[in-house]
Amino acid sequence: MKPTLVARDVAPAVASAAGPRGAPQAGGAHDEADAGFARDLRAALRGPSRSISPKYFYDLEGSRLFDRICELPEYYPTRVECGILARCADALAKRAGRQAEIVEFGAGSLRKVRLLLQAFEAPARYLPIDISAEHLHASATTLRHEFEGLDVQPVAADFSRCMALPPALGSGRRIGFFPGSSLGNFAPEEALDFLRRAHGLLQGGALILGVDLVKDPQRLHAAYNDAQGVTAAFNLNLLARANRELGADFDTHQFAHYAFYNAPLRRIEMHLVSRRAQAVALGAERFCLEEGESLHTENSYKFTIEGLRALAAAAGFRPGPVWTDPERLFSVHWLDAS
Ligand SMILES: C[S@@+](CC[C@H](N)C(=O)[O-])C[C@H]1O[C@@H](n2cnc3c(N)ncnc32)[C@H](O)[C@@H]1O
Repeated sequence: MKPTLVARDVAPAVASAAGPRGAPQAGGAHDEADAGFARDLRAALRGPSRSISPKYFYDLEGSRLFDRICELPEYYPTRVECGILARCADALAKRAGRQAEIVEFGAGSLRKVRLLLQAFEAPARYLPIDISAEHLHASATTLRHEFEGLDVQPVAADFSRCMALPPALGSGRRIGFFPGSSLGNFAPEEALDFLRRAHGLLQGGALILGVDLVKDPQRLHAAYNDAQGVTAAFNLNLLARANRELGADFDTHQFAHYAFYNAPLRRIEMHLVSRRAQAVALGAERFCLEEGESLHTENSYKFTIEGLRALAAAAGFRPGPVWTDPERLFSVHWLDAS
C-alpha cells in the first residue's frame, strides 16, 4: 500500500559518554546510570506511585527486544513511519538543504535515519544520541560501513536531562530527528520541556518529529499485546536488568505484563503486575508487593495532528508540513526552529 502524502503548510545532563570518534564524553557515565537506575527503582518500589521511567528498559537486551518489536505484525508504528519517511524524504532533504547536520534523539538501531541520509545532499555529520550505549556504538559502526565518508559521532546520553552537543559544523543547518513517537513517553509537561530544549539546540534549523496518532483502541491494544509475547519480554526485561545490574532478586515469572489503552488520557499504559504477595530485595532494602499491585513502567501518549502542532508552537517551533499515511495511523512533522 502506498502511503498518501499529506503536506500542509500553515503557517543535562549532557552528553555524557563518549563515542569512539571523539563524541562528547564524561567519565563515569556508566556508574551514574547505574546509580540513577537503583535510585529510581527504589523510589518506585517505595511508592506511593510505583512508577519508573521507560528509559530503563534500554540496556543491550532491551534494545534487542525493541528491535524485535519493530518486526512484529501487530506493531504498525515502525512500518508505517518508515513508509511515510520513504515518501517524504526528498521533501525533507530539500527543506534541510546542503550539508545539514542530523541530530537524532533516541536513535536505537539507526534504521530510520538511513532514509534521510540517502536523500540529504552531502550531510555534514550525524550525531545519534541514545541512552543504550553499547547498542548505539555497535549500530554506529555498521552505519559507518554503509555510508563511507559520513562523519558519525554517537553520543551516549540521557535526553530527558539537559543535553550538550559539540559545536555545529560548517554552514549547513542542524536538523533534529525524533522518530518512533518517543515524545509520547513523556508526560505532556515533560514533552513541552523536551521540545523547548530541542528548540534551543536546533536554533536556525528544524526538527523532524514522528508521532503516533489517536486511533481505534483495539488496534493500539494489539500493538502492545503481541501474540508472540515479545512486548511482555521487553517489559519484564526491566526486572531482569535490575537483577543483572543491581543484584536485585525479582522472580520475573511472578510478574505479569499488562498493557491497555487509557482512553481519557489518550495513552497506552504498561505495567508489571505482581502475581502474588511477594518480597523483593534491592541492595540492603526489602520491598513487599501485594498480589495485584503494579509497577507502572511506560506511558505512550497518542496525539492528534492539531494537538501536536499546538504543543510544538508552545515550545517555540513554527510548525510546517505534516505527512501521514492513508489510514492516518502515524504522522511526521517538520517543525522550524528558526
Ligand atoms: C522506542 S525506541 C525508538 C528507536 C528509534 N528511534 C525508532 O524510532 O525506531 C526509543 C529509543 O530511545 C532510547 N531512549 C529512551 N529513553 C532515552 C533517554 N532518556 N535518553 C536517550 N535515549 C533514550 C532507547 O534506548 C531507544 O533506542
